Amino acid sequence: MAEKGLVVVIGATGPLGKECVLALESEGYRVRAASRRVETAREMLLHKVKNPSRVDFVHVDVMEKSVLSSVLKDAEVVFFCASASAGWRVPGTSKNTPKQVDYLGAIHVAEAAAQAKVKRLILVSSAMVTNRSSFPYLFLNSAFGRIMHWKRQGEIGVIKVHEKNPEMAYTIVRPGHLINEPAKGPKSVIVDQGDRISWRVTRADVAKVCCACLKVENTMNATFEIAGRKETESQSNLPETYEALLATVKPDKKPEST
Ligand SMILES: NC(=O)c1ccc[n+]([C@@H]2O[C@H](COP(=O)([O-])OP(=O)(O)OC[C@H]3O[C@@H](n4cnc5c(N)ncnc54)[C@H](OP(=O)(O)O)[C@@H]3O)[C@@H](O)[C@H]2O)c1
Repeated sequence: MAEKGLVVVIGATGPLGKECVLALESEGYRVRAASRRVETAREMLLHKVKNPSRVDFVHVDVMEKSVLSSVLKDAEVVFFCASASAGWRVPGTSKNTPKQVDYLGAIHVAEAAAQAKVKRLILVSSAMVTNRSSFPYLFLNSAFGRIMHWKRQGEIGVIKVHEKNPEMAYTIVRPGHLINEPAKGPKSVIVDQGDRISWRVTRADVAKVCCACLKVENTMNATFEIAGRKETESQSNLPETYEALLATVKPDKKPEST
């Protein structure tokens, strides 16, 4: 397979970041696995990739702006899979909060990517971030340091960076509840817009959808949700490929300001 351009995955030791590295590498992309735990990333991933020479490992902390230009050097695309979703913490006891990582960290990466002439940013956010009365919003926001609020602010921040740097396209992917199971395939997932769906979906399927975005032009400057398909839902005319699944995605209108 001909080698494709370089994609940086930020948060490569996270369970979704890891799946993104594997999905990209198996598609023939060169991948830079960026994480705060470089050796762990190497141990987790190197034996699982088809061609180890296609993957390199670098240190990143999204709160350290100064390292981002070297992390993003020569990249065509960056995936933002980092999150401070490690759970409730006593206010003031941790610097690694959703505000720092999911909001400011996403903006730091978007700004550095625009400066480094990266062409695309794929931001992994969450289903229900705009649906403030939904159970996932209320539960996750109170249990995880207002994470839904800060993830939404991160989305808005990334879109603002894009507005100042329109040559860098963004895609915001909002998964439902993530589970660690093998990919179930494009027929098992639903893509929607308008923040209406949230059902469990495998990280492996979400990673393949993130990868497929790179081949589907209408996902540029778009936000969409991805969730598992319930068995009770219609099974007719299901897409054969992840790319076909994305065919109906439309670019965003101007985002809400809150
Ligand atoms: N879990 C769910 O059900 C669910 C549902 C919807 C959306 N999401 C979102 O989907 C994404 C992936 O979720 P996940 O559960 O697979 O992963 P995750 O457990 O949230 O892991 C994210 C990774 O981010 C890294 N990270 C944290 N702070 C960082 C920093 N300052 N700089 C760089 N990296 C940092 C951590 O790796 P290191 O500690 O190795 O640095 C961590 O493994 C997240 O944005 C999450 O909020 C999750």
